[in-house]
Amino acid sequence: MSALEPRVWPLNTTLNRHGEMVFAGVSTSELVQEFGTPLFVIDELDVKEKIKQYVTAYSDAPMPVKIHYASKAYASADVLRWMVEGGLGVDVSTGGELALALAAGVPPELIVMHGNNKSMEEIERGITAGVGAIVIDSFDEIERLNRICKSLNKTIDVFIRLTVGVEAHTHEAISTAHEDQKFGLSIFSGAAEQAAIEVNSSPYMNLLGFHSHIGSQIFDPRGFELSAARVIEFCALLHKKYSFITKEVDLGGGTGIAYLPTDDPMSIADMANVIIDLVVRESEKHKIALPTLSIEPGRSIIGQSTVTLYEVGTIKPIELEGNTTRTYISVDGGMSDNIRTALYGAQYTARIANRDPLGELVQSRIVGKHCESGDIVVRDLLMASDVAPGDFIAVAASGAYHRSMASNYNMLAKPAVVAVKHESARLLVRRETEADLLALDQGLL
Ligand SMILES: Cc1ncc(COP(=O)(O)O)c(C=O)c1O
Repeated sequence: MSALEPRVWPLNTTLNRHGEMVFAGVSTSELVQEFGTPLFVIDELDVKEKIKQYVTAYSDAPMPVKIHYASKAYASADVLRWMVEGGLGVDVSTGGELALALAAGVPPELIVMHGNNKSMEEIERGITAGVGAIVIDSFDEIERLNRICKSLNKTIDVFIRLTVGVEAHTHEAISTAHEDQKFGLSIFSGAAEQAAIEVNSSPYMNLLGFHSHIGSQIFDPRGFELSAARVIEFCALLHKKYSFITKEVDLGGGTGIAYLPTDDPMSIADMANVIIDLVVRESEKHKIALPTLSIEPGRSIIGQSTVTLYEVGTIKPIELEGNTTRTYISVDGGMSDNIRTALYGAQYTARIANRDPLGELVQSRIVGKHCESGDIVVRDLLMASDVAPGDFIAVAASGAYHRSMASNYNMLAKPAVVAVKHESARLLVRRETEADLLALDQGLL
């Protein structure tokens, strides 16, 4: 029986005497029988444990700390409620995410609204609902906020998102604070300073401070060090030139998680210590008052809690050069429920979930059922040679940016999401049906 690597699987994952994977006391066979596949299975107590770790890690900080869960990682009503019950707020980046958070009962003042292209309607909705703050990403937005607040006769707390020129050591598509990309206003070009002047002179906006999110799936804290140093240096500059006092600094999310047993990310507690120390040190260095610290973790709260269960459909050995073969294992989902492999070259751990794997380990690739050769779920792994059609496979660490990035490519219906806890499973989001998909098509009315 092959042991489970605790770093990548949800906390409450075990194997029963048949070698079948059991999630918080619910076996794979029970799950697939009741809910079908592909299926996202969230270990509720794993998520709650991560929330607790965040709250504990920042509880002794010398400044007030606000933690907003980045709902883009994964959101459904229950999961957002777990965040609020655990003491967190919620970060939204579109009208849809805002609608879900409000419908789930997240108190509006705990919501921070992001987005590089918020529409008039989205901004108006946020302000009317009473969101805690809006993060400004462009000069157009300053103008829109002024106009909307004036027409509603309201004021709103805002941050300005800074581009701090830091190359986070992660995939380019999730690296967000270098100069040549769409987010934020540069501290080097003068844009951020100009924006601060404009916002500060508006009767409709209360400039709380500045935001920086350098990227996602970050293991090396040096990127955070540099970005925090630059954000606080910028705050000090504004203080010196304009006597502006920064009340709050938001350093975004980005803490990485283990997808492979060999991945060695920093713990939530260690990363918190690094971030707190940085803000204290840089504030002292620049002789500015210690601001409130905000962070926006997504992946590091939800990523490890979830597995995707798939059913194996076909098996195909392919001859490679040099007399080797790779076994292609086709499953009943693919790039429509996990786009990260195609988009970022992400790597995963997977295991036969319904029984103990037998046989020698062979070079394998788990692929989906879409019409693209890039439709790969797990690019390279060693899998037991006895894997067969009808087996179920679990892919680890699939809680963040999986279901939330799912598509209907090839008219595949999006998978259901269930939460497991104390030996029972509860449906959080039902599976889409073909009828759901056809219902949108006006030619079928
Ligand atoms: C502004 C902002 N905050 C927070 C996050 C969450 O990042 P992560 O899930 O890596 O913690 C993101 C992710 O893209 C983001 O864009």
